[in-house]
Amino acid sequence: MSRPTFLMTDPGHYDVSYRINPWMSPDAWSPAKARAALAGSAALRAALEAAGGLVEMIPAEPGLPDLVFPANAATVLNGTVLLARFRHPERQGEEGPFRAMFERLKARGVVRRIVDLPEGMFHEGAGDAIWDRTRGLFWTGHGPRSHAGAGQVIAETFGQPVVALELASERFYHLDTCFRPLDGGQVLYYPPAFTPEALAAIEARIAPADRIIATAEDAAAFCVNAVCIERTVIMAQAPSDLRTRLEAHGYRLAEVDLSSFILSGGAAFCMTLRLDQTALPALQEA
Ligand code: ARG
Repeated sequence: MSRPTFLMTDPGHYDVSYRINPWMSPDAWSPAKARAALAGSAALRAALEAAGGLVEMIPAEPGLPDLVFPANAATVLNGTVLLARFRHPERQGEEGPFRAMFERLKARGVVRRIVDLPEGMFHEGAGDAIWDRTRGLFWTGHGPRSHAGAGQVIAETFGQPVVALELASERFYHLDTCFRPLDGGQVLYYPPAFTPEALAAIEARIAPADRIIATAEDAAAFCVNAVCIERTVIMAQAPSDLRTRLEAHGYRLAEVDLSSFILSGGAAFCMTLRLDQTALPALQEA
């Protein structure tokens, strides 16, 4: 079996200099936060590698601070890359460098096929399209950043079922801030982030025993925005008894100080993009 492979971006040009979500505070940015960001990114990389992961680095680009969130670059499954299109002009400049990175990965055989969204459609990659390997489906988020119609495009591009969830608030503007299927089948999520219809769609598909409900504190600490490698869950520092609750489900928790990235509205999941996900063969015809 190949090693779990993740894209990350060199944080050398990361900062918080504009505000496109309610978490972003340019005023709170400082040279100390910049130093902490370098340390946080390195610690996340080390945690991924310690859990058996392999990391591919995208070079930093001046003027594109949010390039450090490659989850928003694309949706990836079975070697197919559906490139993202960003809602906000502040991030649209990232599309070129991300495309160039995927072209290099394709030349090396790491990915197989690169696909574009239809003209005029916004969709912010794995931030709003999370593969659930247990159920063999994509959960997609729409509202603040991604168009609802992108769910259908994802279903057709990957030939997989999609459950589209409408996000109810600007605070939880990407699905990955409030919803995280774990490798063992449980789902960590924050119910107030969803519309009543979305919540009903979640509850229809996830058995009560598999629901791990994040508290408001867990969500605000960006702990739902976690990476899962088998039984290891890597996340920003957990504020509550979340560790105990995850351990009760058989997970090991690796916490990383990502406070400099939370100042931009992101943490572990969106600082990475998983490249090697595959649908189980039995589900590929779905
Ligand atoms: N500042 C970035 C933005 O607002 C943070 C993105 C975090 N990404 C994510 N998938 N949650 O776009």
